[in-house]
Amino acid sequence: MTSVLLTGCGSLVTNNASHGDGSRLGLVADGALVIDGDRVGWLGSRRDAPPADAVVDLGGRAVVPGFVDAHSHLVFAGDRAEEFAARMAGEPYTAGGIASTVTATRAASDEELAATVARLVAEMTRQGTTTVEVKSGYGLTVIDEARSLAIAGRVTPETTYLGAHVVPAEYADDVAGYVDLVTGPMLDACAPYARWVDVFCEQGAFDADAARTVLSAGMRAGLQARIHANQLGHGPGVQLACELGAAAADHCTYLHDADVDALAQSGVVATLLPGVEFSTRSPYPDAQRLLAAGVTVALATDCNPGSCYTSSMPLCIALAVREMGMSPAQALWAATAGGAAALRRDDVGHLGVGARADLVVLDAPSYLHLAYRPGVPLAHAVWRAGHQIA
Ligand code: NIG
Ligand code: FE
Repeated sequence: MTSVLLTGCGSLVTNNASHGDGSRLGLVADGALVIDGDRVGWLGSRRDAPPADAVVDLGGRAVVPGFVDAHSHLVFAGDRAEEFAARMAGEPYTAGGIASTVTATRAASDEELAATVARLVAEMTRQGTTTVEVKSGYGLTVIDEARSLAIAGRVTPETTYLGAHVVPAEYADDVAGYVDLVTGPMLDACAPYARWVDVFCEQGAFDADAARTVLSAGMRAGLQARIHANQLGHGPGVQLACELGAAAADHCTYLHDADVDALAQSGVVATLLPGVEFSTRSPYPDAQRLLAAGVTVALATDCNPGSCYTSSMPLCIALAVREMGMSPAQALWAATAGGAAALRRDDVGHLGVGARADLVVLDAPSYLHLAYRPGVPLAHAVWRAGHQIA
């Protein structure tokens, strides 16, 4: 097994309060880290660093855990730039635009879809993302959902079955029939390719009963639940997530106090997607209300052709700080450890000894620059599982 010593880390974020300054970020000044094979073997102060097979001096650059993007929709064809332009001219965002992506996705070949996924994952990687969740949801037939998940599975084990994204046009008059399909033959075809089951619980998509039916069927098939909840209004999605013990409730833009309490009591992670509010010109969720209540908050991109076509976790961190009142430390934690919690992963999202060696070297002396220098490509180098991948 080869070891690599990364030394000269101006600051090193470990997300482990037993290291460094003892804060939640476990910030080590003038640090060093040893990668042993695919894992973190040692970390600490530069002057205590043990020998290794190879040494890389980072010249004072900051090191942070690789970003964990726990919510994306990368399997699609076409784009909706015109819909974005119309929104910027005052049109509201609705779930209706999803149908046009469904038409384009059904018409695309496997190779086209796989090329788009690979291109977007490469974009994410260059910006420091080392773990990504990818959903289906633009196929909405048995074959198109199953192939979407098979394609997603080529780039990540965190694949999510979202056959219940919207009711497709051919089932417009038979929602119950579509739920039967999603919980029957489509689930049978998709479950082998998926770790998670998701549903868009919202007006214009699926109501609480249908969403409960979809998630419960997925859980019986061995999938774990996550949910699109409370994005466009005060819906029942967050309560349903808590009732079913979902890993995460995503969006959480419109919350009653009872929703916040339920998230805090249940431990369901609230994944905030500020790129969506940015790209739909909508009110941002109230991150401090969630944090003050003790809710675990994650940040993710929601990268998709409709509500938010960014692949950039650094942008989401900057938006969370500027627009949602999160501190830079809270935002970085949410984009790394928070994302890992949303995916129920303990091997990523932190840099403790034994963690997977997933990290980003920033062209900056401190993680603060992620929010301080919005829009600037700060990822100097990206390592995943002990290999430099960007
Ligand atoms: O998370 N809300 C539902 N699904 C996506 C948007 C999909 C689309 O507009 O194409 C979301 O925002
Ligand atoms: Fe989404």
